[in-house]
Amino acid sequence: MNLNWPLMSNNITREDLNVVIEFLNKEPILTQSKNVKAFEEEWSKWLGTKYSIFVNSGSSANLIALSALKQTSGLGEIIVPTLTWVSDIASVIQTGFTPVFVDINPRNLCMNDCEVIKKINKNTKGVFITYAQGFNGLTANLLSALSEKRIPLIEDVCESYGATFKGNKLGSFGLMSNFSFYFAHHMSTIEGGMISTNDNCLYQLCRMFRSHGMVRELNDEQLKNKYIEENPELDPDFIFAFPAYNMRNNEIGAVLGRNQLKRLDKNNQKRKKNFKIFLDNLNPEKYRTDFNLEGSCNYAFNLVTKSQNLKFCERIMQKLREVGVEFRRGSAGGGNQLRQPYLKKLAGDEEYKKYPETEHIHFFGCYIGNYPDLSEDKILSLCNFLNAID
Ligand SMILES: Cc1ncc(COP(=O)(O)O)c(C=O)c1O
Repeated sequence: MNLNWPLMSNNITREDLNVVIEFLNKEPILTQSKNVKAFEEEWSKWLGTKYSIFVNSGSSANLIALSALKQTSGLGEIIVPTLTWVSDIASVIQTGFTPVFVDINPRNLCMNDCEVIKKINKNTKGVFITYAQGFNGLTANLLSALSEKRIPLIEDVCESYGATFKGNKLGSFGLMSNFSFYFAHHMSTIEGGMISTNDNCLYQLCRMFRSHGMVRELNDEQLKNKYIEENPELDPDFIFAFPAYNMRNNEIGAVLGRNQLKRLDKNNQKRKKNFKIFLDNLNPEKYRTDFNLEGSCNYAFNLVTKSQNLKFCERIMQKLREVGVEFRRGSAGGGNQLRQPYLKKLAGDEEYKKYPETEHIHFFGCYIGNYPDLSEDKILSLCNFLNAID
Protein backbone atom coordinates (compact mmCIF):
# COMPACT_ATOMS: atom_id res chain seq x y z
CA MET A 1 0.00 0.00 0.00
CA ASN A 2 1.21 3.52 -0.78
CA LEU A 3 -0.92 6.34 0.60
CA ASN A 4 1.25 8.97 -1.16
CA TRP A 5 0.59 11.60 1.51
CA PRO A 6 3.00 14.58 1.52
CA LEU A 7 3.00 17.16 4.32
CA MET A 8 1.27 19.64 2.02
CA SER A 9 -0.20 19.30 -1.46
CA ASN A 10 -1.51 21.51 -4.20
CA ASN A 11 -1.06 24.68 -2.14
CA ILE A 12 -0.12 26.70 -5.23
CA THR A 13 -2.53 25.63 -7.95
CA ARG A 14 -2.39 25.76 -11.75
CA GLU A 15 -4.94 28.55 -11.55
CA ASP A 16 -2.65 30.57 -9.22
CA LEU A 17 0.20 30.12 -11.69
CA ASN A 18 -1.98 31.22 -14.60
CA VAL A 19 -2.86 34.40 -12.72
CA VAL A 20 0.87 35.05 -12.19
CA ILE A 21 1.61 34.39 -15.87
CA GLU A 22 -1.16 36.76 -16.93
CA PHE A 23 0.30 39.38 -14.57
CA LEU A 24 3.85 38.86 -15.92
CA ASN A 25 2.65 39.19 -19.49
CA LYS A 26 1.80 42.80 -18.74
CA GLU A 27 5.53 43.46 -18.04
CA PRO A 28 4.69 45.00 -14.68
CA ILE A 29 6.76 46.39 -11.80
CA LEU A 30 7.87 43.35 -9.79
CA THR A 31 9.19 44.94 -6.62
CA GLN A 32 6.81 45.99 -3.82
CA SER A 33 4.09 48.06 -5.44
CA LYS A 34 0.31 48.19 -6.08
CA ASN A 35 -0.41 44.49 -5.54
CA VAL A 36 1.44 44.45 -2.21
CA LYS A 37 -0.70 47.38 -1.07
CA ALA A 38 -3.90 45.73 -2.31
CA PHE A 39 -3.01 42.39 -0.66
CA GLU A 40 -2.36 44.16 2.64
CA GLU A 41 -5.74 45.90 2.46
CA GLU A 42 -7.58 42.72 1.52
CA TRP A 43 -5.82 40.79 4.29
CA SER A 44 -6.76 43.42 6.90
CA LYS A 45 -10.36 43.26 5.75
CA TRP A 46 -10.41 39.45 5.93
CA LEU A 47 -8.83 39.44 9.38
CA GLY A 48 -10.72 42.37 10.87
CA THR A 49 -7.78 44.68 11.64
CA LYS A 50 -6.92 48.15 10.41
CA TYR A 51 -3.41 47.65 9.04
CA SER A 52 -1.22 44.91 7.58
CA ILE A 53 2.38 44.79 6.35
CA PHE A 54 3.39 42.11 3.81
CA VAL A 55 6.91 40.78 4.42
CA ASN A 56 9.13 38.02 3.06
CA SER A 57 8.43 35.37 5.76
CA GLY A 58 6.65 34.56 8.99
CA SER A 59 10.03 34.68 10.75
CA SER A 60 10.53 38.22 9.45
CA ALA A 61 7.07 39.09 10.79
CA ASN A 62 8.19 37.74 14.20
CA LEU A 63 11.40 39.76 14.16
CA ILE A 64 9.76 43.00 13.01
CA ALA A 65 6.95 42.69 15.57
CA LEU A 66 9.43 42.23 18.42
CA SER A 67 11.64 45.05 17.10
CA ALA A 68 8.64 47.39 17.02
CA LEU A 69 7.60 46.32 20.52
CA LYS A 70 11.11 47.07 21.79
CA GLN A 71 10.87 50.61 20.39
CA THR A 72 7.55 51.27 22.11
CA SER A 73 7.92 49.42 25.42
CA GLY A 74 11.65 48.93 26.07
CA LEU A 75 13.32 45.67 27.02
CA GLY A 76 12.19 43.12 29.62
CA GLU A 77 10.65 39.65 29.71
CA ILE A 78 8.49 38.06 27.03
CA ILE A 79 6.44 34.98 27.91
CA VAL A 80 6.73 32.29 25.23
CA PRO A 81 5.69 28.64 24.81
CA THR A 82 8.11 25.71 24.85
CA LEU A 83 6.25 24.22 21.87
CA THR A 84 6.60 26.71 19.03
CA TRP A 85 8.66 27.55 15.97
CA VAL A 86 12.31 28.53 16.41
CA SER A 87 11.81 32.11 15.16
CA ASP A 88 9.28 32.87 17.91
CA ILE A 89 12.03 32.47 20.49
CA ALA A 90 14.95 33.54 18.28
CA SER A 91 13.24 36.90 17.61
CA VAL A 92 12.84 37.46 21.35
CA ILE A 93 16.53 36.74 21.95
CA GLN A 94 17.74 38.64 18.87
CA THR A 95 15.93 41.81 19.92
CA GLY A 96 17.37 41.61 23.45
CA PHE A 97 14.26 40.52 25.36
CA THR A 98 14.45 37.68 27.91
CA PRO A 99 12.26 34.67 27.06
CA VAL A 100 10.24 33.19 29.95
CA PHE A 101 8.89 29.72 29.20
CA VAL A 102 5.50 28.18 29.77
CA ASP A 103 4.25 24.61 29.23
CA ILE A 104 1.33 23.80 26.95
CA ASN A 105 -2.26 22.77 27.47
CA PRO A 106 -2.45 19.26 25.91
CA ARG A 107 -5.97 19.90 24.55
CA ASN A 108 -4.92 22.81 22.32
CA LEU A 109 -1.07 22.65 22.24
CA CYS A 110 -0.94 26.36 23.17
CA MET A 111 0.44 27.90 26.34
CA ASN A 112 -1.39 26.93 29.52
CA ASP A 113 -3.27 30.14 30.33
CA CYS A 114 -3.00 29.76 34.14
CA GLU A 115 0.77 29.32 33.89
CA VAL A 116 1.06 32.40 31.67
CA ILE A 117 -0.78 34.49 34.24
CA LYS A 118 1.43 33.13 37.06
CA LYS A 119 4.59 34.18 35.22
CA ILE A 120 3.55 37.79 34.68
CA ASN A 121 5.56 40.21 36.83
CA LYS A 122 6.72 43.84 36.76
CA ASN A 123 9.37 43.05 34.11
CA THR A 124 6.92 41.44 31.67
CA LYS A 125 6.74 43.37 28.39
CA GLY A 126 4.54 40.99 26.48
CA VAL A 127 3.00 37.57 25.99
CA PHE A 128 3.97 36.07 22.63
CA ILE A 129 1.44 33.32 22.06
CA THR A 130 1.77 30.67 19.34
CA TYR A 131 -1.45 29.07 18.16
CA ALA A 132 0.05 25.71 17.32
CA GLN A 133 -1.30 23.84 14.32
CA GLY A 134 -4.70 25.42 14.03
CA PHE A 135 -5.93 25.36 17.62
CA ASN A 136 -7.31 28.35 19.44
CA GLY A 137 -5.28 29.09 22.58
CA LEU A 138 -7.17 32.11 23.89
CA THR A 139 -9.38 32.03 26.95
CA ALA A 140 -11.50 34.75 28.57
CA ASN A 141 -9.35 34.25 31.67
CA LEU A 142 -6.13 35.04 29.80
CA LEU A 143 -7.53 38.04 27.92
CA SER A 144 -8.98 39.63 31.04
CA ALA A 145 -5.74 39.11 33.02
CA LEU A 146 -3.71 40.70 30.21
CA SER A 147 -6.02 43.65 29.92
CA GLU A 148 -6.14 44.15 33.70
CA LYS A 149 -2.32 44.00 33.98
CA ARG A 150 -1.87 45.99 30.74
CA ILE A 151 0.37 43.37 29.16
CA PRO A 152 0.43 43.38 25.36
CA LEU A 153 -0.43 40.18 23.53
CA ILE A 154 1.50 39.37 20.34
CA GLU A 155 -0.17 36.58 18.38
CA ASP A 156 1.71 34.14 16.18
CA VAL A 157 -1.01 32.87 13.87
CA CYS A 158 1.38 31.38 11.27
CA GLU A 159 -0.11 27.90 11.77
CA SER A 160 -3.70 28.85 12.53
CA TYR A 161 -5.19 31.50 10.33
CA GLY A 162 -8.91 31.10 10.02
CA ALA A 163 -9.18 29.81 13.60
CA THR A 164 -11.38 31.86 15.91
CA PHE A 165 -12.12 32.68 19.54
CA LYS A 166 -15.70 33.68 20.34
CA GLY A 167 -16.39 34.16 16.63
CA ASN A 168 -13.50 36.56 15.95
CA LYS A 169 -10.42 35.54 14.01
CA LEU A 170 -7.20 34.80 15.88
CA GLY A 171 -4.82 37.59 14.99
CA SER A 172 -7.41 40.28 15.66
CA PHE A 173 -7.07 40.22 19.47
CA GLY A 174 -3.48 41.26 20.14
CA LEU A 175 -1.41 44.39 19.76
CA MET A 176 0.20 42.77 16.71
CA SER A 177 -0.22 39.43 14.96
CA ASN A 178 2.05 37.47 12.65
CA PHE A 179 1.31 35.12 9.74
CA SER A 180 3.38 32.91 7.44
CA PHE A 181 2.61 32.09 3.82
CA TYR A 182 5.29 29.42 3.47
CA PHE A 183 4.23 26.48 1.30
CA ALA A 184 3.24 24.20 4.20
CA HIS A 185 0.67 26.62 5.66
CA HIS A 186 -3.04 27.36 5.03
CA MET A 187 -2.08 29.38 1.94
CA SER A 188 1.15 30.20 0.21
CA THR A 189 2.90 33.09 -1.53
CA ILE A 190 5.96 30.79 -2.02
CA GLU A 191 7.71 32.54 0.89
CA GLY A 192 5.93 35.31 2.75
CA GLY A 193 4.47 36.68 5.93
CA MET A 194 2.22 39.39 7.29
CA ILE A 195 2.07 41.56 10.40
CA SER A 196 -1.34 42.96 11.32
CA THR A 197 -2.27 45.56 13.90
CA ASN A 198 -4.87 48.18 14.82
CA ASP A 199 -2.22 50.54 16.19
CA ASN A 200 -1.10 53.25 13.75
CA CYS A 201 2.16 53.95 15.61
CA LEU A 202 3.20 50.26 15.41
CA TYR A 203 2.04 50.09 11.80
CA GLN A 204 4.33 52.98 10.88
CA LEU A 205 7.24 51.43 12.81
CA CYS A 206 6.76 48.06 11.10
CA ARG A 207 6.67 49.72 7.68
CA MET A 208 10.05 51.28 8.44
CA PHE A 209 11.51 48.09 9.96
CA ARG A 210 10.56 46.22 6.79
CA SER A 211 12.55 48.63 4.67
CA HIS A 212 15.91 49.64 6.19
CA GLY A 213 14.31 52.02 8.74
CA MET A 214 13.52 54.36 5.83
CA VAL A 215 11.37 57.36 6.63
CA ARG A 216 9.93 57.50 3.11
CA GLU A 217 8.11 54.22 3.92
CA LEU A 218 5.87 56.08 6.38
CA ASN A 219 2.39 56.74 5.08
CA ASP A 220 1.56 58.99 8.02
CA GLU A 221 2.43 62.32 6.39
CA GLN A 222 2.64 64.21 9.68
CA LEU A 223 5.20 61.80 11.09
CA LYS A 224 7.13 61.75 7.84
CA ASN A 225 7.30 65.56 7.74
CA LYS A 226 8.51 65.64 11.34
CA TYR A 227 11.54 63.48 10.42
CA ILE A 228 12.17 65.61 7.31
CA GLU A 229 12.03 68.87 9.27
CA GLU A 230 14.30 67.50 12.00
CA ASN A 231 16.88 66.43 9.39
CA PRO A 232 17.12 69.32 6.88
CA GLU A 233 20.63 68.28 5.80
CA LEU A 234 19.37 64.86 4.57
CA ASP A 235 17.70 63.86 1.31
CA PRO A 236 14.06 63.12 2.36
CA ASP A 237 14.24 59.91 0.31
CA PHE A 238 17.25 58.71 2.26
CA ILE A 239 16.53 59.26 5.93
CA PHE A 240 17.11 56.13 8.03
CA ALA A 241 15.40 56.38 11.42
CA PHE A 242 16.99 53.37 13.14
CA PRO A 243 18.96 50.24 12.27
CA ALA A 244 16.47 47.91 10.60
CA TYR A 245 16.14 45.25 7.90
CA ASN A 246 15.14 44.65 4.30
CA MET A 247 12.29 42.19 4.66
CA ARG A 248 10.07 43.30 1.79
CA ASN A 249 8.14 40.87 -0.35
CA ASN A 250 7.30 41.48 -4.02
CA GLU A 251 4.45 41.79 -6.51
CA ILE A 252 4.49 38.10 -7.54
CA GLY A 253 3.98 37.05 -3.91
CA ALA A 254 1.18 39.57 -3.56
CA VAL A 255 -0.57 38.43 -6.78
CA LEU A 256 -0.45 34.85 -5.47
CA GLY A 257 -1.68 35.91 -2.03
CA ARG A 258 -4.60 37.91 -3.44
CA ASN A 259 -5.72 35.00 -5.58
CA GLN A 260 -5.34 32.49 -2.74
CA LEU A 261 -7.21 34.63 -0.25
CA LYS A 262 -10.33 34.25 -2.42
CA ARG A 263 -10.52 30.54 -1.64
CA LEU A 264 -9.01 30.50 1.88
CA ASP A 265 -12.32 30.30 3.77
CA LYS A 266 -13.65 27.52 1.56
CA ASN A 267 -10.41 25.54 1.92
CA ASN A 268 -10.47 26.06 5.67
CA GLN A 269 -14.00 24.63 5.92
CA LYS A 270 -12.71 21.49 4.21
CA ARG A 271 -9.71 21.30 6.55
CA LYS A 272 -12.01 21.51 9.57
CA LYS A 273 -14.17 18.74 8.20
CA ASN A 274 -11.11 16.56 7.45
CA PHE A 275 -9.72 16.97 10.96
CA LYS A 276 -13.02 15.97 12.53
CA ILE A 277 -13.17 12.81 10.36
CA PHE A 278 -9.61 12.00 11.39
CA LEU A 279 -10.24 12.39 15.14
CA ASP A 280 -13.63 10.66 15.05
CA ASN A 281 -12.12 7.57 13.47
CA LEU A 282 -8.90 7.19 15.43
CA ASN A 283 -8.88 4.65 18.25
CA PRO A 284 -9.18 6.79 21.42
CA GLU A 285 -7.60 4.01 23.48
CA LYS A 286 -4.35 4.45 21.58
CA TYR A 287 -4.37 8.06 20.45
CA ARG A 288 -5.39 11.42 21.91
CA THR A 289 -8.66 12.46 20.32
CA ASP A 290 -9.92 14.92 22.92
CA PHE A 291 -8.46 18.10 21.39
CA ASN A 292 -10.50 21.23 21.92
CA LEU A 293 -11.87 21.89 18.44
CA GLU A 294 -13.88 25.00 19.26
CA GLY A 295 -12.78 27.65 16.77
CA SER A 296 -9.93 25.49 15.46
CA CYS A 297 -8.77 25.36 11.85
CA ASN A 298 -5.96 22.85 11.39
CA TYR A 299 -3.64 22.26 8.46
CA ALA A 300 -2.29 19.26 10.33
CA PHE A 301 -3.55 15.98 11.72
CA ASN A 302 -2.10 15.70 15.21
CA LEU A 303 -1.18 12.16 16.05
CA VAL A 304 -0.31 11.84 19.73
CA THR A 305 -0.17 8.51 21.52
CA LYS A 306 -1.84 8.21 24.90
CA SER A 307 0.87 6.01 26.35
CA GLN A 308 4.50 6.91 26.74
CA ASN A 309 5.80 3.89 24.89
CA LEU A 310 8.73 4.84 22.68
CA LYS A 311 8.81 1.48 20.90
CA PHE A 312 5.14 1.89 19.88
CA CYS A 313 5.93 5.37 18.54
CA GLU A 314 8.92 4.11 16.59
CA ARG A 315 6.70 1.43 15.04
CA ILE A 316 4.09 4.00 14.02
CA MET A 317 6.68 6.23 12.40
CA GLN A 318 8.35 3.33 10.61
CA LYS A 319 4.99 2.16 9.26
CA LEU A 320 4.05 5.69 8.15
CA ARG A 321 7.31 5.89 6.23
CA GLU A 322 6.60 2.51 4.61
CA VAL A 323 3.23 3.69 3.22
CA GLY A 324 4.51 7.08 2.03
CA VAL A 325 2.96 9.28 4.71
CA GLU A 326 5.17 12.27 5.47
CA PHE A 327 5.15 13.51 9.07
CA ARG A 328 7.03 15.77 11.47
CA ARG A 329 7.95 14.40 14.84
CA GLY A 330 7.36 16.59 17.89
CA SER A 331 4.65 18.53 16.02
CA ALA A 332 5.12 22.30 15.68
CA GLY A 333 8.78 23.21 15.27
CA GLY A 334 10.27 19.87 16.27
CA GLY A 335 8.97 19.60 19.84
CA ASN A 336 10.42 21.02 23.03
CA GLN A 337 12.44 24.08 22.02
CA LEU A 338 14.42 23.85 25.27
CA ARG A 339 16.04 20.66 23.96
CA GLN A 340 17.45 22.55 20.96
CA PRO A 341 21.13 23.54 20.94
CA TYR A 342 20.26 27.21 20.29
CA LEU A 343 18.41 27.39 23.64
CA LYS A 344 20.30 24.95 25.83
CA LYS A 345 23.18 27.40 26.23
CA LEU A 346 20.85 30.18 27.28
CA ALA A 347 18.31 28.32 29.43
CA GLY A 348 20.54 25.55 30.79
CA ASP A 349 20.87 21.84 30.02
CA GLU A 350 18.15 20.70 32.42
CA GLU A 351 15.44 23.33 31.85
CA TYR A 352 13.49 21.22 29.31
CA LYS A 353 12.53 18.74 32.03
CA LYS A 354 10.18 21.23 33.68
CA TYR A 355 7.61 21.13 30.85
CA PRO A 356 6.03 17.65 30.91
CA GLU A 357 3.17 18.35 28.48
CA THR A 358 5.58 19.62 25.84
CA GLU A 359 7.85 16.67 26.58
CA HIS A 360 4.96 14.30 25.82
CA ILE A 361 4.40 15.90 22.41
CA HIS A 362 8.16 15.93 21.79
CA PHE A 363 8.45 12.15 22.08
CA PHE A 364 4.94 10.82 21.49
CA GLY A 365 3.47 13.27 18.99
CA CYS A 366 3.81 14.05 15.31
CA TYR A 367 1.76 15.72 12.62
CA ILE A 368 0.58 14.65 9.22
CA GLY A 369 -0.61 17.04 6.48
CA ASN A 370 -4.27 18.08 6.24
CA TYR A 371 -5.20 19.76 2.95
CA PRO A 372 -8.40 20.47 1.07
CA ASP A 373 -8.09 17.81 -1.62
CA LEU A 374 -8.00 14.87 0.82
CA SER A 375 -10.97 12.56 0.36
CA GLU A 376 -12.94 11.04 3.23
CA ASP A 377 -11.98 7.55 2.04
CA LYS A 378 -8.32 8.40 2.13
CA ILE A 379 -8.58 9.78 5.67
CA LEU A 380 -10.46 6.66 6.77
CA SER A 381 -7.74 4.42 5.24
CA LEU A 382 -5.14 6.31 7.25
CA CYS A 383 -7.16 5.92 10.46
CA ASN A 384 -7.66 2.19 9.88
CA PHE A 385 -3.98 1.82 9.18
CA LEU A 386 -3.01 3.67 12.38
CA ASN A 387 -5.58 1.80 14.51
CA ALA A 388 -4.15 -1.53 13.38
CA ILE A 389 -0.64 -0.76 14.70
CA ASP A 390 0.15 -2.38 18.06
C1 LIG B 1 4.34 29.18 14.51
C2 LIG B 1 5.28 29.64 13.42
N1 LIG B 1 5.81 30.86 13.50
C3 LIG B 1 6.66 31.31 12.56
C4 LIG B 1 7.01 30.54 11.48
C5 LIG B 1 7.98 31.07 10.48
O1 LIG B 1 7.40 31.22 9.21
P1 LIG B 1 8.33 31.22 7.90
O2 LIG B 1 8.65 29.80 7.60
O3 LIG B 1 7.45 31.85 6.87
O4 LIG B 1 9.54 32.01 8.22
C6 LIG B 1 6.50 29.25 11.36
C7 LIG B 1 6.91 28.42 10.21
O5 LIG B 1 6.56 27.38 9.91
C8 LIG B 1 5.60 28.78 12.36
O6 LIG B 1 5.10 27.55 12.29
